[in-house]
Amino acid sequence: MLTWADQVVFEKTGKHLSSLQEAILMGVLSSQKYGDIANQYNCTEPHVRKAASELWQVISEEVGEVVNKSNLRSTFGRIQLNNSIHSAYFWKDVKIENISYCGNSTKPPKAKQNAPPTATKNQQYSIIKPQIDLRDAPELATFDNRTSELNTLKQSILEKQSRMIAILGISGMGKSAIARHLVEQIKTEFDCIIWRSLRSFSCLETTLKELIQFLSNHTELNLPDDLDGQLAILLECLRDRRCLIILDDVQCLFKDGQLVGNYQPEYQNYSKFFKLIGKLTHNSCLLFNSWEPPLEVVTLSGESGLTQIFSLTGLGQKATQILKNQGLQNEENYPELINLFRGNPLYLKLANHLIKQLFGGKISQYISYKPVCLGDELTQILQQQYQRLSELEKEAIAFLSSHPQPVLLSQLLGQFSDTPNQLFKVLLSLERRGLIEKQNLDNEMVFTVDSVMQNYILSGCD
Ligand SMILES: Nc1ncnc2c1ncn2[C@@H]1O[C@H](COP(=O)(O)OP(=O)(O)OP(=O)(O)O)[C@@H](O)[C@H]1O
Ligand SMILES: [Mg+2]
Repeated sequence: MLTWADQVVFEKTGKHLSSLQEAILMGVLSSQKYGDIANQYNCTEPHVRKAASELWQVISEEVGEVVNKSNLRSTFGRIQLNNSIHSAYFWKDVKIENISYCGNSTKPPKAKQNAPPTATKNQQYSIIKPQIDLRDAPELATFDNRTSELNTLKQSILEKQSRMIAILGISGMGKSAIARHLVEQIKTEFDCIIWRSLRSFSCLETTLKELIQFLSNHTELNLPDDLDGQLAILLECLRDRRCLIILDDVQCLFKDGQLVGNYQPEYQNYSKFFKLIGKLTHNSCLLFNSWEPPLEVVTLSGESGLTQIFSLTGLGQKATQILKNQGLQNEENYPELINLFRGNPLYLKLANHLIKQLFGGKISQYISYKPVCLGDELTQILQQQYQRLSELEKEAIAFLSSHPQPVLLSQLLGQFSDTPNQLFKVLLSLERRGLIEKQNLDNEMVFTVDSVMQNYILSGCD
């Protein structure tokens, strides 16, 4: 690889690879930070950054796609070299674990003496496209105003090299949509990408089999019977290549009628899966969408930056675009409608249909009848969320819903005076589900219930 890089740099600049550039290449391939390379090389970090940036530019021009610190490994992993610069030869000067190279096993050419570089024209190799399976993913649809959220996610995956990211948010907030758009923006940074939904309640064994089959590129698999053995093989795949796994609808693993994050008995072993991916070293990333977080992921996110929880909240007034696109009248009432539905794109789309069907598109008339009519589809969605709650959560949320103003913690403690400890757990659980919000007001916490859920409860839950 160094010989190849040297040839490329020589051809473009007339100079051989400097020893600092060699150190940068080897360091980055070993996941070192620029600061570490600078220390080892006895120079400053800005100096390393400058040399690296020049190097990435030259390599990017050569291979025809953007190459940088975060995708060097995966890009090199995908370089398919022809017979004149064979892949085994390409990696011969790199002694780093977990680098996989592509190509078959013909012998590498003899190294030329005094290396006037051999020609390295673009036709001599090509970049293998990442292997992608998005059968379970939604279509790329119109998607407004999530630029900053997309940038944060991109930064977590590409710059911070997060191993596991949970996108959390209530139904319809746009978790699947943002994950789908994110894949589109970062797909060239990975060797393989697979999207699976757990909406059809897939047991861990089935999920693992599908993932390993795809990531290892094997149609016939002889997997060990025990879960630990299967997880070890998955981990090998995640170390061998840079993989992006997207698991959608993770909330399907959890039980109804209990506090947040309690697995259904048959899915309890997913806990081990999340812990393993979050804790052990690999170069890949698991991104998952859920209404609520697995508890071990909450713990891991507190321990290290390599596991991140990303809460997807409403679009706020940026949701105006959705209402405009749908041709809704009374623009002066948009803010109230958006607040009522918390900027949730799906809720707003469903409300838009209702407003057109029942009120000829007049928002002002729709919102004048309180609690507002939610319609069958939205009621069904809210019912699903409500059924997930424990009995005490239902009581607490009913109490909060009956108050138009935020409720003080002391008020709640007065109402649930027999079970204060249970109340604290309930409040945490409801907050993790995104159904209540808390605020510090004059040194006391106050709680508000999600306005759409409040509307559902005030309508008698039907
Ligand atoms: N930023 C956006 N702009 C326009 N439409 C959006 C946006 N985000 C999501 N949508 C649309 O809103 C609907 C709900 O989005 P999506 O299915 O991604 O939600 P979700 O959070 O995954 O919901 P669930 O938890 O039920 O799976 C979809 O029709 C989607 O296209
Ligand atoms: Mg979804």
